[in-house]
Amino acid sequence: MSDKPFLTDVKTLRERARQHIQDGAVTAGYGGDTKTAIKLLNDALATEIVCVLRYKLHYFVARGIHSGHVADEFLQHANDEQAHADRIAERIVQLGGDPDLSPEGLVSRSHTEYVETQDLAQMIRENLVAERIAIDSYRELVAYFAPFDSTSRKMLEEIMAQEEDHADDLADLLHRLPKDIEH
Ligand SMILES: [Fe+2]
Ligand SMILES: [Fe+2]
Repeated sequence: MSDKPFLTDVKTLRERARQHIQDGAVTAGYGGDTKTAIKLLNDALATEIVCVLRYKLHYFVARGIHSGHVADEFLQHANDEQAHADRIAERIVQLGGDPDLSPEGLVSRSHTEYVETQDLAQMIRENLVAERIAIDSYRELVAYFAPFDSTSRKMLEEIMAQEEDHADDLADLLHRLPKDIEH
């Protein structure tokens, strides 16, 4: 699994997401395009779930290596990503859609990857990469929703702000890591 057989090309996924955004011509009212909106939110939902799973994995593995605040931070992030997933799922229902929680194809719907590693520094780096991808994706989604759906836009901005905090936390962890490992 460490050879990444299930990992989908992030670039392709993001190009696809961008294409959907371009397809979504903003018309009067919402009616015309809820299908695209729900599809985009379901991709964001898949991304959050993959992030929950990756952070949970890293939490348990990190706890075995080094039971410090790195593991605690991963767990905190896993819980935050779960809360994001729940908010997005709720919004999908409000828009008349069904949250896609199917495990089948989950990784290919996600913008971020599920990375298995035993290396603490690599865990932090992979999570930082994932957060940066998530931030970019949310920025695009915010721009997509802004003209016609202020509720979704606001939710996505709030989630994006938390992803920015996560990225900061991880950058700090990476910086402090050599010191932590000595103890
Ligand atoms: Fe998140
Ligand atoms: Fe995050």
